[in-house]
Amino acid sequence: MSEPKDAPAAKLESGGNDYNLNVHGGSIGPSVIDVSGLYGSSGQFTYDPGFTSTASCKSSITYIDGEEGILLHRGYPIEQLAEKGNFIETCYLLMHGELPNNDELQEFEQAITMHTMVHEQLQKFYSGFRRDAHPMAIMVGVVGALSAFYHDSTDINDPDQRKIASRRLIAKIPTIAAMAYKYHIGQPFAYPQNNLSYAANFLHMCFSVPSEQREVNPILARAMDRIFILHADHEQNASTSTVRLAGSSGANPFACIAAGIACLWGPAHGGANEAALDMLAEIGSVDRIPEFIKRAKDKNDPFRLMGFGHRVYKNYDPRARVMHKTCHEVLGELGIKDDPLLDVAMELERIALSDDYFIEKKLYPNIDFYSGITLKAMGFPTTMFTVLFALARTVGWVSQWNEMIEDPSQRIGRPRQLYIGATHRDYVPVEKR
Ligand code: CMC
Repeated sequence: MSEPKDAPAAKLESGGNDYNLNVHGGSIGPSVIDVSGLYGSSGQFTYDPGFTSTASCKSSITYIDGEEGILLHRGYPIEQLAEKGNFIETCYLLMHGELPNNDELQEFEQAITMHTMVHEQLQKFYSGFRRDAHPMAIMVGVVGALSAFYHDSTDINDPDQRKIASRRLIAKIPTIAAMAYKYHIGQPFAYPQNNLSYAANFLHMCFSVPSEQREVNPILARAMDRIFILHADHEQNASTSTVRLAGSSGANPFACIAAGIACLWGPAHGGANEAALDMLAEIGSVDRIPEFIKRAKDKNDPFRLMGFGHRVYKNYDPRARVMHKTCHEVLGELGIKDDPLLDVAMELERIALSDDYFIEKKLYPNIDFYSGITLKAMGFPTTMFTVLFALARTVGWVSQWNEMIEDPSQRIGRPRQLYIGATHRDYVPVEKR
């Protein structure tokens, strides 16, 4: 592994003064100009809405090269993890930094599969929600409520408690997600089965019913596992940064993950796969695609092609490549050939990949474009798509949260601002306004 090296200092001239700024090198990727002392020396802040040029932390978990379309977890390419590994191994890798050996894998798998049940009292929370509640609303509430159940793992300064909370979250999130689904569709909850793999157990909890015996299809379980791997972590995206920011105040892990889930829900982030499917349904038929492409290009129309474009990838998202393949495996297994939504999706992909507007702006189909189609084929309603993303991303959030707490340079996150409001003025009583 190449060692990070500091580079020669950068110089900034502002207001007639020169400032020397340290530059820190990473093991790969862009170096960073350290502006942490700039306010102290110059009295000025830096300004970067949307953090397009700002690194908020040091991290050794995930590396993305958006120009080249590379995604590495602890150095391993996502394609290799998705093709050759499984989700439990990926969880271990993200959390511990190395792939597990056989003993480590067994211990970890045992710890995760033995903690899949949730406190029976937690069920009561579900009945407090309306049946038509969005399952993400249920997820935010129930995951946040875990801190009221597992008091023995909320001390963030105790490494053992952090480990227990992390493992609990990874183990229980499929159960909580499946319960949100079952509640949403009015079916009884299905208890976890610890003899099944992580992904197969999740499918069992979602699709089994007490009135009949249903085996989990191993091809669908493998596809589910791959979807989990592909969504496991993605460095400092909006929800992960939310988890880190919430955690920087010392908030307990369950509260931090609930904050991450709330952020993920947005349509520009995890909500995109749901939005992509809704968009395909709105387009409805292949002959209407040109009309929507035209709208996507129109600067005065807020419409965007959901499932296209990415803040970081200006190349084909490597996860989208694997997801594309998985999508076709699932459709093949389920014998789905004549789905109008799929026809629209495939034609949209073809047009967008050959259209100058999308080529020039480097707008490729992202992972959400294909995951939406796959999940629909597997039988999930669109409202569950973001829930599945949250389930898979929990390990990433937990790993990033642990890394932050163990980082000695960690302080409470507190961005500054450029104030553009009214200057000092005196209060005027209502009758004089
Ligand atoms: N359809 C049409 N035009 C687009 C699209 C799109 N999906 N995405 C970006 N553009 C245009 C945009 O109008 C802008 O044009 P111009 O330069 O003429 O003003 C240009 O491309 C750059 O867009 P941006 O908004 O500055 O890019 P961003 O990095 O801020 O946004 C994004 C990234 C993902 C929010 C955006 O591409 C988007 O809204 N995509 C649709 C939603 C989506 O699929 N999100 C899932 C992201 S992947 C999952 C995840 O990581 O959470």
